[in-house]
Amino acid sequence: MKLKLKIWRQPDNKSKGKMINYDIDNVSPDMSFLEMMDMLNENLINKGEDPVAFDHDCREGICGMCSMFINGEPHGPDRLITTCQLHMRKFKDGDTIIIEPFRANAFPVIKDLVVDRSSFDRIQQAGGFISINTSGNTQDANTIPVDKYDADKAFDAATCIGCGACVASCKNASAMLFVSAKVSQFSLLPQGKVEARDRVLNMVNQMDEEGFGNCTNTGACEVECPKGISLENIARMNREYLWSSIKG
Ligand code: SF4
Ligand code: FES
Repeated sequence: MKLKLKIWRQPDNKSKGKMINYDIDNVSPDMSFLEMMDMLNENLINKGEDPVAFDHDCREGICGMCSMFINGEPHGPDRLITTCQLHMRKFKDGDTIIIEPFRANAFPVIKDLVVDRSSFDRIQQAGGFISINTSGNTQDANTIPVDKYDADKAFDAATCIGCGACVASCKNASAMLFVSAKVSQFSLLPQGKVEARDRVLNMVNQMDEEGFGNCTNTGACEVECPKGISLENIARMNREYLWSSIKG
């Protein structure tokens, strides 16, 4: 396939960015999107030009690093996959593909398609953990019975990979889907209930401090989330936040 790429280039956070056009050919439909980007970068390096900076790590949908906005959608046109799992067979010969970084005030651009998502780390540090005594022998796994329904819901929430597509797809740049998944994965389980009240208050407060917008229930986050994290987590977090605020 021959493709036209329009890619956001920005040398650093202080400089202005702009879209640059690139032509690429010999793209196989069996290539992953990131392999196509690798090929483009090899071509640029061979011509003595600066390769396009983009984030990636696992390349199998686990780490959440490969955050790109492709033709107006985070992680591209397919559903329930990350950019690294997107294949070029989703595009046609002669297509133009527009590639941008995830855009949000709380995700400043570092270079080209790489954004700083350390705001997510700080939200996690504010409450995304449980405090347990780790001295002595390991506890038997069945010591604390967990309801199957709650275990399944907690597991579903725990599949969030922190990619930020929910923020990038939201017109308000809200991080509610991410934060609610991190709150729910603990608060649904007996081990996480102990600190549930402080956790939801601290994580939501940190989310607000980082400059993420409010949720207005448009639901774009759920549609674009590569892990199918459900909006019901946001409803659960709102209930917990209200209850915890009243309790002080
Ligand atoms: S909720 Fe979904 S879109 Fe948001 S960070 Fe988690 S996996 Fe990514
Ligand atoms: S590179 Fe890890 S999820 Fe895409």
